[in-house]
Amino acid sequence: MHSDCERILLSEAELAAGVKAAGAWLTEKFRGAFPVAVCNLKGSAVFFADLLRAADIDVQADFMAVSSYGAGTVSAGKPKVTRDLFSSVAGRDVILVEDIVDTGRTLVTLRAFFRERGARSVTVVALLDKPSRRVVEAKADYTCFAVEDRFLVGYGLDYAERYRNLPYIAVLKERVYAADGQGAGAR
Ligand code: PRP
Repeated sequence: MHSDCERILLSEAELAAGVKAAGAWLTEKFRGAFPVAVCNLKGSAVFFADLLRAADIDVQADFMAVSSYGAGTVSAGKPKVTRDLFSSVAGRDVILVEDIVDTGRTLVTLRAFFRERGARSVTVVALLDKPSRRVVEAKADYTCFAVEDRFLVGYGLDYAERYRNLPYIAVLKERVYAADGQGAGAR
């Protein structure tokens, strides 16, 4: 385990099992269809790559970025689309792939965004959910793991752009973010 981590919350094996189940759910739901899966960069990239390979369907991949955190740990408020999609989603079934639903603002913003772009349907698959942190009503259609409100890193999740490449999800030691003057209220 990385020395900046306090403990592993989800091991590689647990993540693999969760992703496999999510892939099977997508396979069942989208059999015979050709949805477009959207990766909300950057945190979702690792999950996205594994999830698509766990889903036995024809699927288009697209990418966008929405950000509300900047370099810190505390949400700055309304999320902004910082990178748009490559392709139109008009008339398409969209699968939005999220690493984490926290306050719920990103999810609400993106559901509205895809509706405005004329998507036929929007299905949200989230790796993690922190229901205790919600400030707006938001729910993924499929969630792999509900987790506690600790600062988590790994498997795509960062702190100040580090730790995304850890193969597990771990609780970050408080001293790491406290040193930067960041409070709790973690993601
Ligand atoms: C994170 C995460 C989600 C969002 C969830 O993105 O990837 O998209 O926050 O938070 P919310 O429910 O409070 O809206 P972040 O802005 O940290 O960007 P990143 O994925 O590039 O790290």
